Amino acid sequence: MNINNLKTRKIFVTTALPYANGKLHIGHIMEFIQADIWVRFQRMQKNIEVYFIGADDTHGVPVMLEAKKKKKKIEEFIYNINIERKKLLKKFYISFDNYYITDSIENHILSKKIYLYLRDKSKMISFKKVEQFFDLKKKIFLSDRYIKGTCPKCDALNQNSDFCEICGSVYSLMELKNPYSIFSNKKIIKKKSDHIFFLLSKKKCINFLSKWIFKKPKFQTEVINKAKEWLLKNNLKDWDISRDYPYFGIKIPDTLNKYFYVWLDAPIAYISSLKNFLDRKNINYNFFLKDKYTEQYHFIGKDIIYFHILFWPAILKFSKNKLPTNIFVHGFITINGKKLSKSNNYRICPLKYLNLGFNPEWLRYYIAYKLNSKIKDIDLNIDDFIYRINSDLIGKYINIPSRISKFICNNFNYKLNTNWGVKYYYLLRNIKGIFNNIYKFYEERNFKKVLYFIMKIINKINIYINFNKPWNFFKKDKNLQKICSYLLECFRIITIYLKPILPLLSIKIEKFLNINFLSWLDIKKTLPNNHSINYYKHLLKKVDLNIKEKLFKNFY
Ligand code: MSP
Ligand code: ZN
Repeated sequence: MNINNLKTRKIFVTTALPYANGKLHIGHIMEFIQADIWVRFQRMQKNIEVYFIGADDTHGVPVMLEAKKKKKKIEEFIYNINIERKKLLKKFYISFDNYYITDSIENHILSKKIYLYLRDKSKMISFKKVEQFFDLKKKIFLSDRYIKGTCPKCDALNQNSDFCEICGSVYSLMELKNPYSIFSNKKIIKKKSDHIFFLLSKKKCINFLSKWIFKKPKFQTEVINKAKEWLLKNNLKDWDISRDYPYFGIKIPDTLNKYFYVWLDAPIAYISSLKNFLDRKNINYNFFLKDKYTEQYHFIGKDIIYFHILFWPAILKFSKNKLPTNIFVHGFITINGKKLSKSNNYRICPLKYLNLGFNPEWLRYYIAYKLNSKIKDIDLNIDDFIYRINSDLIGKYINIPSRISKFICNNFNYKLNTNWGVKYYYLLRNIKGIFNNIYKFYEERNFKKVLYFIMKIINKINIYINFNKPWNFFKKDKNLQKICSYLLECFRIITIYLKPILPLLSIKIEKFLNINFLSWLDIKKTLPNNHSINYYKHLLKKVDLNIKEKLFKNFY
């Protein structure tokens, strides 16, 4: 990659839309951080137009039930969640251009439009009768979550339709004894209901998917393998995209009381949230999306590959929309080797993390340090976390200015001397020389590798400091000024490399160095001779070992 001719690109990036039925947890934040680092890396290239888009997934039964439990009107409930989440995302420096909701006007309109196209033009929709439970008193069809009954194993009353909270057994709805409706508390009957299906198993659809997926050389191997498993076994089933009232969602045109299943309109909100943003910016959204050079990327977790590699491209294809350029899948985050779990309260609440005085950039750094482009799970190990922050990030990187800036400030009145001459070039050339690797590994989302290269160089800088021993020079020695200026220049370039991961810290360093916002092109420049820097204030706190225990006591 040549820094002089970085390509001109137009990019549209999304993260999965978290359900609006509870608090965000560290797994969500991890996905946001991953995408945000990638987006910030792209934005640092001046000739790239990037839109970073997210939203809350506000439809479906769990959201409805949660609002009911909190005794809130559903619209108010999701609105408040959206506001709180936006605040939280800011605190982790997640730089969405738009963070919207799936229950927006734009999404209602677009979902209906896409559905009608699929139904009338592409003939990808069919209607079939499906047997379902029905509440005779309320005259409504019931989804599983609206049904309770007696546990088939231990006879406990009032248990869920699929698992017993008393004995912990898991069973199917058909095994549940004396099923009743939670709305009327009355027994329920089986009844046929018309359901609407997307014809995923249609020949033209399977042909399209097989061609599209296997011709995408850039998909992660694990994703291709999954898709092979699903496609080649030829067991794609048509997909039920309708739900009966009561349901919080988008009304299906030409039906009475039927709604799109949440997974139909949720991905469509990737586009409608983009539209909402571009409309406000007076940018033509059709023009942007129809442009064949526009690249479209979705960051998602491994549990929702099926939806994104099969349903979503098929919907886009048969409604004549742009197909994703790639789908970037990550694994799950575990804490000290254990899976997160809602029922066991084994999670880290991001807001509590902040309230306990943990720095958001520590987490950004650690997650970057763990992430590569594979789908394997990553582990947040608390001891390793503390070690990486205190020893690597602070002990090695922040250590550079903290060891040398006082010489420039105190002895040379804040002024740099950049006439350091050729004999100094070696280290700096080395630092600039890793740009290609840094660029490549950011683009490939292999942040672990990015940090590996950066840390290797930072070690060299520290060795250089130890070797030259600035503290042994006479106070006013010009060579002391040159060496320290040279080291600050090295530090400046490393800061450019780290900027996508540590956005606030970079701003502090830009202020300290008294320079403009750093971007990739600034690698080519050098700090000018006689440039004045500002007073050095400590840039980042270490993790206090006492707060480790606090974090553990505060899972929610
Ligand atoms: N609402 C759907 C997505 C619709 S996208 C059109 C959904 N929501 S979710 O809240 O369950 O998950 C949101 C994202 O968080 C998903 O990409 C999911 O994989 C990710 N994660 C959930 N738990 C996670 C971890 N423990 N670790 C990392 N990511 C995790 O699915
Ligand atoms: Zn039981």
